[in-house]
Amino acid sequence: MLNSKQQDVLTRVGPGTPMGELLRRYWFPVAATCELDDRPTKKVRLLGEDLVLFRNHGGPYGLLQENCPHRGASLVYGSVEDDCIRCAYHGWLFDASGHCLDMPAEPRRAKLMNRVKAKAYRVEALGGLLFAYLGPEPAPLLPHYDLFLWNGVLRDIGHTLIPCNWLQIMENSMDPHHVEWLHGHHLAFVHKKKGARDPRHYRKRHVKVGFDTFRYGIIKRRVLEGGTEEDDDWKVGHPVVFPAMLRVGTQGVSCFQVRVPVDDTHTWHVWYSCYKPNSDVEIPPQESVPLFEVPWKDERGEFILDFVDGQDIMTWVTQGPIADRTRETLGSSDEGVVLFRRLLLEQLEKVQAGEDPMGVIRDPAENRIIELPQEVNKYQDGASFRSEYIEMGHSRYSPIRNRVKELFEQAGC
Ligand code: FES
Ligand SMILES: [Fe+2]
Repeated sequence: MLNSKQQDVLTRVGPGTPMGELLRRYWFPVAATCELDDRPTKKVRLLGEDLVLFRNHGGPYGLLQENCPHRGASLVYGSVEDDCIRCAYHGWLFDASGHCLDMPAEPRRAKLMNRVKAKAYRVEALGGLLFAYLGPEPAPLLPHYDLFLWNGVLRDIGHTLIPCNWLQIMENSMDPHHVEWLHGHHLAFVHKKKGARDPRHYRKRHVKVGFDTFRYGIIKRRVLEGGTEEDDDWKVGHPVVFPAMLRVGTQGVSCFQVRVPVDDTHTWHVWYSCYKPNSDVEIPPQESVPLFEVPWKDERGEFILDFVDGQDIMTWVTQGPIADRTRETLGSSDEGVVLFRRLLLEQLEKVQAGEDPMGVIRDPAENRIIELPQEVNKYQDGASFRSEYIEMGHSRYSPIRNRVKELFEQAGC
């Protein structure tokens, strides 16, 4: 249980807050590249700041404060001219570094233009996503985590906006025991009512769980009933990439779940998946990575509980906009949650001492490609678990799910 001061330190993400300063040391995705294919701007909110993302026909990307420094109209409705954006209201023109290059209605504009600067942030494209960095200079490298760079795979990007704080979503990733209950027993309960398939892998009992910190975060391990420490589930495990990403998957499927802190009470959830059968099947390059929305409420406004991610979202949302940790009752099975909070506080102190926190990368050699560990034979049954993972997870909403199924059938695995 935390007191309200500790709870505030861990959950507030705006500029000037301790956690906001820690999170500003990392790059976060703010859009899929395909979102700017047929429109020049996108409204973005990240770490409590309202921003406009823009790009003119294949030119470089820009990310500026949303509200025009003149009298505050939204630049989301501006027109993009070459590498600049022009405010719709009085035509002030800004480049991607925030400099003002024109003020058409000002007769003596030169002096005023020199004084005006819009807040501008770095933005970089990688693997079909656009990442933003809101922290101090010099900026660290955008991490080249393996899935963003892999060749010869099919990719898709699921997303949704979740009305709750980012930390309760990350705490869920440090809580392996919920899997057998929420995605095992509870999913079985929901599926039985619908006459659907039993989630037999998810029901396996956790005999032992473990957490090890490493260069990029925490490796989670588990021994399941009937298994041993020789299984991939324990020997390899999978990582929580500090501070806001989970890597999960099984044979042929890998997914980053990125929890983008929009503000104190909203999180943009991104599922970035790669599908790659363990065979020689040729996968033609994708023109662009498709983006799809993952629904979690039905037409009556009820939670959709017959798939794994919908169940997770129900628990995150019902914990409240910011889960109240002054009223919780932790047990020994919450050891991962406690570890994650402790790690956040340690890293926050590092930032306050002027040091780089965990996982920040500045060496280009280290950043060529960062291979992260992940079980292949998950739940002692990699290939058979894969069909449960795809049918009972967010992938069921993917526009390429049939192509993915065909791919594995073709590969005979
Ligand atoms: S409010 Fe943008 S130019 Fe006036
Ligand atoms: Fe879960």
